[in-house]
Amino acid sequence: MSKQTYFLSTPIYYVNGSPHLGHAYTSTAADVLARWQRLRGLDVFFLTGTDEHGQKVEAAAKQAGIAPLEFANRVSDDFRDMAKQMNISNDDFIRTTEARHKASCQEIWRRIQANGFIELGAYEGYYAVRDEAYYDESETILKPDGTRVAASSGAPVEWVVEPSYFFKLSTFQDRLLAYYEQNPGFIAPTAKRNEIVSFVKSGLRDLSISRTKFSWGIPVPGDEAHVMYVWLDALVNYITACGFPDLEGPRGKFWPADLHLVGKEIIRFHAVYWPAFLMAANLPLPRRVFSHGWWTVEGEKMSKSLGNFIDVRPLTEEFGLDQVRYFLLREVPFGNDGDFSRKALVGRINADLANGLGNLAQRTLSFIAKNAEGVLPARGEMHEADHALLELAQNLPSRVAEAMDKLAFHEALDEVWRVIRAADTYIDSQAPWALRKTDAARMKAVLRMICEVLRVIGVVLQPFMPETMARLLEYLGIAPEARDLAGLDTPMVDLTPLPAPQGLFPRVTEAA
Ligand code: ME8
Ligand code: MG
Repeated sequence: MSKQTYFLSTPIYYVNGSPHLGHAYTSTAADVLARWQRLRGLDVFFLTGTDEHGQKVEAAAKQAGIAPLEFANRVSDDFRDMAKQMNISNDDFIRTTEARHKASCQEIWRRIQANGFIELGAYEGYYAVRDEAYYDESETILKPDGTRVAASSGAPVEWVVEPSYFFKLSTFQDRLLAYYEQNPGFIAPTAKRNEIVSFVKSGLRDLSISRTKFSWGIPVPGDEAHVMYVWLDALVNYITACGFPDLEGPRGKFWPADLHLVGKEIIRFHAVYWPAFLMAANLPLPRRVFSHGWWTVEGEKMSKSLGNFIDVRPLTEEFGLDQVRYFLLREVPFGNDGDFSRKALVGRINADLANGLGNLAQRTLSFIAKNAEGVLPARGEMHEADHALLELAQNLPSRVAEAMDKLAFHEALDEVWRVIRAADTYIDSQAPWALRKTDAARMKAVLRMICEVLRVIGVVLQPFMPETMARLLEYLGIAPEARDLAGLDTPMVDLTPLPAPQGLFPRVTEAA
């Protein structure tokens, strides 16, 4: 039987600016999920990439004094580097300037057009280059200084008058509402779903899907005076990567996507425009769009004017990669906004990692190295306390799975730390150091229990902290091929020689 497939994506990031904390966040969250699904044995396709066309990128290239493609090459490479440094396990990295994408976009256009959902007209209205979005006057505000901005984002809008092709979005209102109704999990979290449903209920206007004022984009088939609207171009990336138009090819089995993970500011594009485009082209719709919240930095919105964009790469060098990955997913309930501060990062590293998991592992493993011949102790007769702890650990994967299904990463981690605390309490009450002199057999049985608990913890935490958990599992004598969820059904082997353990998470000392 072929394995169940799972296709998930991050947004493709604009190359007008450098990668920062926000991009790293989405990519890390998606990576944790991709690794989790692989751990479950699914056939995963994990996609990320860069969004390279449009007026905003064209302007950034101009400002840098180089050709748009050269500029895009440079910044796209930087996003690739960020993914590599964050240990993002993407299976493909798509760029919208690639030939495969041009072919795919033009074919989508032709299909939508052949189905009668594109017509030529003229756009007259507001456009925000920063958001690459059209706004109705009611969605803008006139500021005291006379400038007009988008109410939702604060981006300046300009008045645009130009010939344009329109997508007949208005005809999809009922079909979209029916899809939301029949697929209650399509838009998450619920608050976002409600927002989108009421937006669609309030009536949809046809959407301008081509521009003529600049040329940095994919030409409209049959009318090269127009380039496609960058959001149509961008959204199509997800199906391009599956091999579209050839969905019979090796990647075709991954369409429709299981999950598009996005930031909250672009939910409308993914939950309204994208399904409507697909309906218009007679293609299957994605199963889920999940929008997460926004990070501020030390209480401030990240912005060009404040110059406070944080690059996570230096942080991973200073504090450790897995420490940063853990922090991003633990600090904020997924879906909510959060604030990044060094103080919070250091606090988490010390409390949860160094004093929590790291200390549990280190005191157990170094005790075994010193007092139990450096081999995995055999199980002894099981006491009440042993059963209780083991049961808690054995139930952990299913509780983590429940949280991961909801993308509640913080809850998944909470469940793990509950077990860590229980293991700490167990060690303190069983006091193996005292048993060393009085009952060596019981001492070993107690250490074995902790090793079993550490194995479960190490396995389920791999998606979050892949490198450090690989070390932990190695210290526990677990072979690389036995580290998936199914591997937990195999008993640990008594008396396996264990390598000398090293600390997992050094304590951070930093002046407040
Ligand atoms: O919107 N907090 O690209 P983009 C959390 N090219 N996440 C953040 C963030 C923050 N402060 N800032 C950015 C685009 N993000 C389009 C997408 S998809 C077909 C096209 C993350 O470079 C978050 O995922 O502006 C957000 O949606 C994305 O970066 C926007 O990246
Ligand atoms: Mg943006």
